[in-house]
Amino acid sequence: MKLAICPGSFDPITKGHLDIVTRAARLFDKVLVVVLQNPIKRPLFTVEERMEMIQKVTKKLPNVSADTYDGLLADYVRMKGACAIVKGLRAVSDFEYEFQMDLINKQLNPEFETIFLNTSQEYMFLSSSIVKQIAVFNGDISAFIPEEICQDIVDRLRREV
Ligand code: PNS
Repeated sequence: MKLAICPGSFDPITKGHLDIVTRAARLFDKVLVVVLQNPIKRPLFTVEERMEMIQKVTKKLPNVSADTYDGLLADYVRMKGACAIVKGLRAVSDFEYEFQMDLINKQLNPEFETIFLNTSQEYMFLSSSIVKQIAVFNGDISAFIPEEICQDIVDRLRREV
């Protein structure tokens, strides 16, 4: 069984992320979408909230499940016996960081591959931080966020302010 990991902060999961997860689910027998800590980001949503949102939007994908891990991605991949991680690449600006991460992860665990999928054209510009900014200022996020979790995000941000 070929298992792949889609790692990220998912704060929150966007239609761009979901596009990558859906495409990864066609390539692998099983896909685990995993919420990990990115020390350079201060998340708005708790790990549990982010995982719940992932579960909601991936319900219709039978070979996809959600998980969290409070440690190194390379260790998580080893623990699960996955053969690859799959990440989306939006633009050249993503490349340098992702390239560095790939090399570091290889050093930590040489047993898996990092596979980059080009982001679909309609999500090239999309990021979780842009969505949060739009939502904070009462903008419409429905073009960017899966329908099942749009209201959850709006409600949560209302409670925040
Ligand atoms: O969605 P993001 O923020 O670009 O995802 C980055 C993430 C969470 C995948 C990355 O920061 C990560 O792998 N965090 C876990 C800790 C780790 O293994 N870091 C890489 C080696 S320093």
